Amino acid sequence: MRIVLVEGDITEQRVDAIVNAANSSLLGGGGVDGAIHRRGGPAILNECRRLRAARYGRGLPTGQAVATTAGDLPARWVIHTVGPVWSATEDRSPLLRDCYANSLRVATELGAATVAFPLISAGIYGWPVEDAVAQALSVLDAADPAGVTEARLVLYGRSAFEAAQRLRPGPP
Ligand code: AR6
Repeated sequence: MRIVLVEGDITEQRVDAIVNAANSSLLGGGGVDGAIHRRGGPAILNECRRLRAARYGRGLPTGQAVATTAGDLPARWVIHTVGPVWSATEDRSPLLRDCYANSLRVATELGAATVAFPLISAGIYGWPVEDAVAQALSVLDAADPAGVTEARLVLYGRSAFEAAQRLRPGPP
């Protein structure tokens, strides 16, 4: 699996599946979640509501992942996952890594060959950006999910992209 760092907006990525940094309600929010629902249209929320009713009455647990349509987005699927809220006193990084691992597992189940990830938990949930990148890469580097040929880490804004590049310098 090729790992690519890009600076940009995940809603514009031409990949099979994009990952959403959702919350357990699956009913939308701010940040990347808000952008995905805004640009993807109501089909995504409709499917999220059905999933809540059928399978996740108490919400999607932190670290797990589930797919819906991507509605009007260029991608075909959205894989919703719930990152942990950053804690200075408790190491929640296993849950953050679960988000990447479980999203890749869902990508395999869908038959998605290319998957784009945002920097899960690194916005509203307060995870320090450099460590969020390190956690993401630790999973992506070790993963070999069947059928997935490219994992794209989409960094939103120059400073997040530069932080990622410090850990993984790209070609000049
Ligand atoms: N494309 C790519 N990355 C983005 C985009 C975008 N369009 N918009 C923001 N980011 P966040 P979280 C980056 O806050 O921390 C929501 O309300 C952002 O700069 O979206 O996991 C949910 O419903 C940051 O680096 O997600 C939850 O309640 C990264 O995406 C909560 O926020 C994640 O920031 C989840 O918080």
